Amino acid sequence: EKGGYEHFMLKEIFEQPKSVQDTMRGRLIVEEGVIKMAGIWDHVEKFKNANRIIIIACGTSWHAGLIGEYLIEEYARIPVEVEYASEFRYRNPIITDKDVVIAISQSGETADTMAALKLAKERGAFIYGICNVVDSSIARITDAGSYTHAGPEIGVASTKAFTAQLTILSLIALKLGKHNGNLGNAEFMSLIAELDAMPKKIEDVLNATHELTQNIAKDFVGATNFLYLGRGYNYPAALEGALKLKEISYIHAEGYPAAEMKHGPIALIDENMPIVIIAPKKGHYDKIVSNVQEIKARKGKIIAVVNRGDTQVSEMADYVIEIPETSECFSPIVASVPLQLLAYYIAVYRGANVDQPRNLAKSVTVE
Ligand code: M6R
Repeated sequence: EKGGYEHFMLKEIFEQPKSVQDTMRGRLIVEEGVIKMAGIWDHVEKFKNANRIIIIACGTSWHAGLIGEYLIEEYARIPVEVEYASEFRYRNPIITDKDVVIAISQSGETADTMAALKLAKERGAFIYGICNVVDSSIARITDAGSYTHAGPEIGVASTKAFTAQLTILSLIALKLGKHNGNLGNAEFMSLIAELDAMPKKIEDVLNATHELTQNIAKDFVGATNFLYLGRGYNYPAALEGALKLKEISYIHAEGYPAAEMKHGPIALIDENMPIVIIAPKKGHYDKIVSNVQEIKARKGKIIAVVNRGDTQVSEMADYVIEIPETSECFSPIVASVPLQLLAYYIAVYRGANVDQPRNLAKSVTVE
């Protein structure tokens, strides 16, 4: 049932070209230039007239939510807030019937997310679910929703569900932006063509980085700390890269917006600190270059995720992982794949139980 792979996690990483395709199937019709999503369309006025959208989630799904915030604010120009479900539910949040609350959950069973949704519903918000497991508790209590259709995810570390969540959030942002007139037709058409190409780009990045990430992983089996840095859309991708590493390899890892380095974490950098930097060409590249220079000056070990043909960041890096170019807003989808592989192989080489890490459960049904 692992389809010839050693672990479910590796199988699920390799399923991503297909799972992202499945998420878009029947929704993204490039030839007609349309995105069809009944859950959104049936309630489009709610979204259009919302005072704000609040995204609630935990863990990896929360990271997807942060990218959702960037997507929806950029393309639909609707204010978005993203909160940990556990914090939201206990702080007496201000919610009105003009708010739309989106819960993101792979399992659809996460206790905190469920409780936060109930609270939002009681206070009159329209509640929307982005779940992977069909007919799960969250899918059932929401007013409407969109399934990610990534297929069953068995590995405790979320991989294909994450990229499916990003795909759904992209579709929602583009659909709303097109509908409310904030996203012009030409840009909409070019973005949907790019999204349509995503399964091929994931396939490409899997092929191009599978062996490479194994080689890099071998050099970091003894690491005790890692930093992951990114800016813009790739800041949440850095958080997600760090979470993957810590949960399966038990190496302490932190994700940071690259510009926050100088506000503290830079003090940690010396020749023993591995730093993963996500630096695709589109998206604050020049700013990232100067962040990399600061790290280089302090002798940090740089693992750079860059676009093919990159020179500036690559020249300073100790390890270079090349990914295909795409629109900035979709770059976390391709950038996440080699980071999943890197975390996977570091954990495997450390002899960890990758599919069932200690102390963790696939769905956290207690608060
Ligand atoms: O099923 P959910 O998406 O609601 O789960 C949320 C988190 O528990 C989950 O993403 C967790 O952080 C994963 N183990 C991350 O890989």
